Amino acid sequence: MHDNKDTTKPHENRSISGVAPKHPPHRFSVAPMLDRTDLHCRYFHRLLTKQTLLYTEMVTTSAIIHGKADYLAYHEQEHPLALQLGGCCPRSLAQCAALAQQRGYDEINLNVGCPSDRVQNGRFGACLMADAALVADGIKAMRDRVSIPVTVKTRLGIDDQDSYPFLCEFVQTVAQRGGCNRFIIHARKAWLSGLSPKENREVPPLDYERVWQLKKDFPELTVVINGGINTMADARLHLEQVDGVMMGRAAWQNPAVLAQVDRELFDAQAEVADRITVMESFCRYIDTALAAGASLGQIMRPVLGLFSGLPGARQWRRYLSEQAHKPGAGVAVVEQALLRVIQAAEEKEEKN
Ligand SMILES: Cc1cc2nc3c(=O)[nH]c(=O)nc-3n(C[C@H](O)[C@H](O)[C@H](O)COP(=O)(O)O)c2cc1C
Repeated sequence: MHDNKDTTKPHENRSISGVAPKHPPHRFSVAPMLDRTDLHCRYFHRLLTKQTLLYTEMVTTSAIIHGKADYLAYHEQEHPLALQLGGCCPRSLAQCAALAQQRGYDEINLNVGCPSDRVQNGRFGACLMADAALVADGIKAMRDRVSIPVTVKTRLGIDDQDSYPFLCEFVQTVAQRGGCNRFIIHARKAWLSGLSPKENREVPPLDYERVWQLKKDFPELTVVINGGINTMADARLHLEQVDGVMMGRAAWQNPAVLAQVDRELFDAQAEVADRITVMESFCRYIDTALAAGASLGQIMRPVLGLFSGLPGARQWRRYLSEQAHKPGAGVAVVEQALLRVIQAAEEKEEKN
């Protein structure tokens, strides 16, 4: 039914401006992060970058199928948007992929990289690396049901299964039997026991060369690299070797880095979003989100690092951290925090 090429063509990508983008969205993406890349975060990131591919947090197939909440909710503005699924049952994965396509998601991604105990108990996430045939079956089941891209996010290996041939065999099986043609590789292995998920993002060493080699050995596949990429300079370096770059924690800690992405990595003519203008737009969103029942504290979490490295960053973060959780907190709190940033910038200017 599907051939083994990445069928995403630049002219098929959604474009807010209506002009065909020069590069596919997977050239740069913000990583799926549980308890972080929720819909407030994604809306905010989209104000900073129009081109970046955004990911949901991992959503389990059982939450989608049996849960009471709407785990597929998102805003139209978030496109291009990938849903990350956690699960291992091909039939459930296919069912969720079909629902996601109906809801308008642009891509589906399968999590084969999370090492948490909870995920291992469900027999999915990183432990699936040991069962490439099952991953291939899941991917095939989804691809048979949907026409949007279905991709895999994984690690270099797990436990003692961490050789380069092991990675190649995994990728080959999932590509050939499952028809997956895009792999996002977090460039470190995972230990399935003994390390917390946080430690598993820090302790096993990064090995970028191995991901670059994978692209050389599988030139027909689209390879996206992830892990420890913090700046546009880092991203450009990797893009000489692989097809795309995924950024996680740096986008959370210093979201302003995303304002550079469109111009630096997609289109030299693109506008660079200005932080104050972004916040003015986000304030309009905040009103709507508050009216829909969200709390200001939750909405503002991805925004706390917006002024990192600039005068007023500390005042911004402190004021919001102290005030945003108070009952009734709304846009006025954000405006007060912004005033502190502007004042700090003016004071710095006067001193210079
Ligand atoms: C708080 C947090 C939650 C995460 N949740 C997920 C997740 O839901 N799915 C996933 O594939 N990876 C998850 N990750 C891993 C990231 O997607 C990414 O692979 C990892 O942070 C390495 O990239 P970085 O060094 O750019 O942060 C999470 C990372 C963090 C910090």
